[in-house]
Amino acid sequence: MSATVDKARAAQARAYAPYSKFKVGAVVRMDGVEYEGVNVENASYPLSVCAERNAIAHGVVMGGRHLEEVVVYTDASPPSSPCGGCRQVLREFCRDPQAVRVIAVNGAGERRAWTVAELLPDSFSGTELP
Ligand code: THU
Repeated sequence: MSATVDKARAAQARAYAPYSKFKVGAVVRMDGVEYEGVNVENASYPLSVCAERNAIAHGVVMGGRHLEEVVVYTDASPPSSPCGGCRQVLREFCRDPQAVRVIAVNGAGERRAWTVAELLPDSFSGTELP
C-alpha cells in the first residue's frame, strides 16, 4: 500500500491546477495494474477534469476494465474524498462496489477509507438500461 501511496504522491506533484491550486494525485488498480491520474484544469473552468477520472481513463486506455482499489492523495486535512461525478465513474468499473476500497491520504499521514458502495449507495449501474 505505501508504494501505491508513494505513487499517488508523486503523481500529485504533476497535477495541473493553476486555477484552484488544489493538486490531486490518484492511483487506480485495475486488473492488477496501477494507473496514475492527476487533475488537469483549464482556463475555461468547467472543462477541468479530476484526478480520479483521469486515472480511470488512463487505465481504460491501457486495457484495464475491473477496478480493484483507489488511492487519492491531496494536501487536504482531513483527506478529501472523490467528488460525486468521480464516484459514478469509479462505480462504472466495479464488479462489486462493496469490494472496492477508496483510500484518501495526505502528506500528514492522515488516512480515510471507504468502499465505493459507501461513497455511492444505491448507485445507477446501467443494469436498468434497456
Ligand atoms: N478534484 C479532483 O481532482 N478530484 C476530486 O475528487 C475533487 C476535486 C480537482 C478538480 C479541480 O481541479 C480541483 O480539484 C478543485 O476542485
